[in-house]
Amino acid sequence: MNTLFLDAAWSKQTERPPVWMMRQAGRFMPEYWEIKNKYSFLEMCKTPEIAADVTMLPVDLLGIDAAILFCDILVTAEAMGGDLSFTQGIGPRFANPVRNMKDVENLNVDCLDKLEYVADAIKVIQQRLNGSIPLIGFAGAPFTVMSYLVEGESSKDFKKTKLLMHNHPEIAHQLLAKIAKVTAAYLNLQIAAGVNAIQIFDSWAMALSWNDYAEFSHQYIKEIIANLDRRDIPVISFCKGSSVFAPMMATAQPDVISVDWNADLLNIKQSLPAGIAVQGNLDPHILYADKPAIKKAVLQLIERMRGENGFIFNLGHGIMPDIPFDNVKYAIELIKEFRY
Ligand code: CP3
Repeated sequence: MNTLFLDAAWSKQTERPPVWMMRQAGRFMPEYWEIKNKYSFLEMCKTPEIAADVTMLPVDLLGIDAAILFCDILVTAEAMGGDLSFTQGIGPRFANPVRNMKDVENLNVDCLDKLEYVADAIKVIQQRLNGSIPLIGFAGAPFTVMSYLVEGESSKDFKKTKLLMHNHPEIAHQLLAKIAKVTAAYLNLQIAAGVNAIQIFDSWAMALSWNDYAEFSHQYIKEIIANLDRRDIPVISFCKGSSVFAPMMATAQPDVISVDWNADLLNIKQSLPAGIAVQGNLDPHILYADKPAIKKAVLQLIERMRGENGFIFNLGHGIMPDIPFDNVKYAIELIKEFRY
C-alpha cells in the first residue's frame, strides 16, 4: 500500500507530499462523460459497479495517492426524505424544500438502510484498489446540507437559510441536529464498510459570520467527529472559509484541516495545535493557466511547506468541469516527482 497519504494525515514524515484533488473524478475527464452519457448522476452513485468505475478513473489516469468514493454530499438529505434530483447545468434540486417545523418533523433519521448502496460501493472499490492506495469516504457538514434542503437548490446568498437561522433558530437547530445524527451514523457505516479516511465537506461555511459558524456549523461538526468510530481512520475537516475558521475547526479535533486558497498554508499550519495536519491549498483556477504558471504555483506551495510533517497536497476547492485534463495531470506529475 502507498501509505504517503495516511502518513501525512497522521503528521508523519514523508519523502514528498501526497496528492489527491477534490472532484478528481468528474466532468473534466472525457472518460467520465463516456459513463455520464449513459446514466443519470444519481444512478451512477447508486450502482456500486458504476460508482467504483468512476472512483477508479483518477486512480488509473492520474495516479493520485488517495481515491475518494464517488457519491454526493446530498444523499444523506435524500435518505431523510428529500426529493433530490440533479439537472445538467443547474445542479441539485430538492422538490420538497424544508421551510417550517412540520417539514423538519417529517424528515426521517432512521434512514441508514437507504444508504446501503454506499457500503456496497465501498466494498467493490476496495476490491478494485486491492490495497494499492487508501480510500477516502465523505459526507456533507450539517450547515451545507441544510442550505440545500432549505433553499431547494444551489444559492449564492443563502437568503432563505439565513432567514430561518435568524428568525426561527429553533427550527434550524432541530434540522441541523437531525442531519448531524444521520451524518455520524452514515460515516460510521462507511468506516464499517472499509474506508481508510473520512472527509467532512462544509463547502458553504464561508457565507457565515464567526458567531453563526460557531452556532450553526462548528458545534454539529464537533458532535459528528466525537461520535465517529475513528480507530485508525483519520478525519479531514474541509470548509470554504477555513482560512478564517481554522482555529475553531481545530477544537473539533480533526486529524487534518483542508484549507481554501485565501491563506498562506504554512501560517495556518503553524497556528494550529501540533498533530493537526493541513491539506490544500492551490487555487484551482491556476489549472486553467499555461504550464509554466502551473509549475510556478505548484512548486511555490511545496517549497513553502518543505520541512513540515503533515502536508497533503490538494486544491483549495474542487476541480472545475472545464479545466483541461492535461493540466491536472501535469500538476500531479510535478508533485509526484518532487522530493523534500
Ligand atoms: O471529489 C470527487 O471526485 C468525489 C465525488 C463528489 C461529488 N460531489 C461528485 C459530483 C464529492 C466529494 C462531492 C461533494 C459535493 N457535492 C459537495 C462538496 C464539495 C464541493 O465541491 O464543494 C457539494 C457542495 C455537492 C453538491 C453538488 N453536487 C453540487 C452543487 C453539484 C452540481 C455542481 C455543478 O457544478 O453542476 C453536484 C453534482 C456532482 N457531484 C457532480 C459530481 C461529479 C456533477 C454531476 C454531473 O455529472 O452532472
